[in-house]
Amino acid sequence: MTAEEFVAALDRENQARLHDLEPDATLLPEIKGALNVPNLLKVALRNEAEATLIAARWLTSCHDTKLMLALARQAADEAKHYELIAARLGRLGFDVETFDPLAGGLGPLSRYLDTLTENVERVAAGQFTREAIAIVKNRQFIAFCERVGDKETASLYRDVIEPDERHHHELGRRTLIRLATTAEAQAAAQRAARRTLELADELQKTALATAGIHHAPGC
Ligand SMILES: [Fe+2]
Ligand SMILES: [Fe+2]
Repeated sequence: MTAEEFVAALDRENQARLHDLEPDATLLPEIKGALNVPNLLKVALRNEAEATLIAARWLTSCHDTKLMLALARQAADEAKHYELIAARLGRLGFDVETFDPLAGGLGPLSRYLDTLTENVERVAAGQFTREAIAIVKNRQFIAFCERVGDKETASLYRDVIEPDERHHHELGRRTLIRLATTAEAQAAAQRAARRTLELADELQKTALATAGIHHAPGC
């Protein structure tokens, strides 16, 4: 399989599995008072901080100049998202100065990403797949914000954050086409993408069971 054919097939596989992350309509009535924009933005802060850290760690151990620059761009964007979300939380009355979203350490998905050492698997998992998940989750979050009448948060996600996350996914696609040129590289990329989706699915189920969270934004 050529790299282009492989990436197109992986994209189709990812999109099919991403349907499992769509919220089940029958669970929507379970949303309770605690499910509000500020609480979801606190989850988003944590995701952005973790995404910044992983991209920054990878770029310091990357000897591929194009990929190093793509990771630097991503790390800067995720840190920018953190700032914008923190500012929005501040306007919603939440004191972000006393909040450290990484105080409890990295979550399971970031811990997994942190174990990856090959460029092709890092890109398949961290950019191509994780950012595809973010696009789906952010779409759900924007719809949630609109439903509860929070136009400012909806537009922050639609106009600023979402285009960046889409760009990260495209960076992942371009790099995968460049790197997934052998059967071994393609197998490693597919394994990493599948594990990323499995972990995202498990996390979503846990969030759903413990906090009724369906729409937590991704990065
Ligand atoms: Fe982000
Ligand atoms: Fe991102």
